[in-house]
Amino acid sequence: MAVKHLAIIGGTGFDSFGDLKTVRERQVDTPFGACSSMLKTVELGGREVTLLLRHGPRHTIPPHRVNYRANLWALHEIGATHIIGVAAVGGISKAACPEKIILPDQLVDYTYGREHTFFKKDLEQVTHIDFTEPFCHELRSTLLRACAEIGLDVLNGATYGVTQGPRLETAAEVKRMACDGCDVVGMTAMPEASLARELDLCYASCAFCVNWAAGCEDSEKKIDMAEIQKTVQQQILVVRQLLSASAGQLGS
Ligand code: HPA
Repeated sequence: MAVKHLAIIGGTGFDSFGDLKTVRERQVDTPFGACSSMLKTVELGGREVTLLLRHGPRHTIPPHRVNYRANLWALHEIGATHIIGVAAVGGISKAACPEKIILPDQLVDYTYGREHTFFKKDLEQVTHIDFTEPFCHELRSTLLRACAEIGLDVLNGATYGVTQGPRLETAAEVKRMACDGCDVVGMTAMPEASLARELDLCYASCAFCVNWAAGCEDSEKKIDMAEIQKTVQQQILVVRQLLSASAGQLGS
């Protein structure tokens, strides 16, 4: 078994890498173009962890324009074996309330028009990956142990509905998603999770809820971006703590 190399794809709230000690920084060329940011390897939780900023260093790449293929390819290229995708989400079910950390175990994909597979050209045979369980069991367990270590209340198991964005959803769309079994809504877990699976990478989502999804709190209340930003800024500190503990918990 190869040595475990943890990578983190940071989303909203991860506009910089903070003050972590940098070990290495590199730009990786991929057959699919440029990835969202440099790959920065830092010391986190007693190990080297590689960070990538999904929305770019200045948070200018919206969810539907992220080059997911380049990002996953680059992380695979540098030897990443385990990837935590961090994502701000909206809460749909009662248990997925704002400020909650959520470890989804299922997803429903509502995205469209994104480059979603590596299996497109020069195929020797058609390949269908198994995606029954979209998130890696080992990495979810690692995150759970890390939550226990730092005494963090977490929602273990939720269905993540992935929408196209960049607009937020209508109340009716969220109602439909609730009927589909979605507990949270976000815009980035797909095709990130399935591309990781195509490359045989262990991928888990670490979601944190920053608002009630459209219509879930009060059917006429608009979603306030300033309020979301405030929650993001608070929650990202907790997420960083969790990631550091997870890096320590992953083992060699
Ligand atoms: N919808 C979609 N994506 C999100 C939301 C939301 O309400 N909140 C944070 N990311």
